Amino acid sequence: MDIRIKESYDEMSDLAAALVIDQVKSKPDSVLGLACGASPIGLYRRLVEAGQRGEVDFSQVKTVNIDEYIGVSADNPDSYHGFMRKHLFDGLGLRPEQTLIPDGMAVDVLNECARYSNKIKDWGGIDLMVLGIGANAHIGFNEPGDTFVPETHVVELSEATRNANCLFFANPADMPHWAISMGMRDIMFARRLILLASGSAKTVALGKMIGDITPQAPASILQLHPHVTIVADRAAAARLEQE
Ligand code: GLP
Repeated sequence: MDIRIKESYDEMSDLAAALVIDQVKSKPDSVLGLACGASPIGLYRRLVEAGQRGEVDFSQVKTVNIDEYIGVSADNPDSYHGFMRKHLFDGLGLRPEQTLIPDGMAVDVLNECARYSNKIKDWGGIDLMVLGIGANAHIGFNEPGDTFVPETHVVELSEATRNANCLFFANPADMPHWAISMGMRDIMFARRLILLASGSAKTVALGKMIGDITPQAPASILQLHPHVTIVADRAAAARLEQE
């Protein structure tokens, strides 16, 4: 694991943006894996600014999001579709056919999961994937459990995750109980991973990430990936620095 510790959220976002921009410059039709949440918002703002200034051309990229809530429609601003439109897609002018996010309103949700994993394969896999980390060390919505789930699947969200994520909802009571998440094989087959973590709420999670490899701490599996960069601010990295 390549661990980069930065002084602040802004410096973390600067470095992450530089890594993503390098990727797109070296391969303009890159498939980018993307996450939602507070951690990548600064990164996405920098990508939009760089795209609008003409420093990098995103017109040929494809994007694949890691997860979506079940029962929240794509046109709802609280959905991950809505988050991505607001923070990245609209600013970069990405066309719908360039972007892939699970359909949380699919009638046949198991079929949607299979379609999603297959679509990632059809697109040739993910070149660079941006991840956040939950306070319980989840990635995407791969919650702590007894096994690592390889393919895109349906997840019942933990209480801890619901409490953390309901703050993103206009009405926190609308926070769903279920989601669709890319699985661990989908993630581990990405050719490069960048995980962002900021703030003291992530200190324990990053400690678990570098501890025993166990499905009880899903991010710990990243230790087996050959090309993963952790970009953390000093507060989040407190345990990493001790180790
Ligand atoms: C959610 C998302 C994850 C994200 C995590 C951390 O559960 N499904 O993909 O990484 O939250 O979010 P944040 O960056 O807001 O702390």
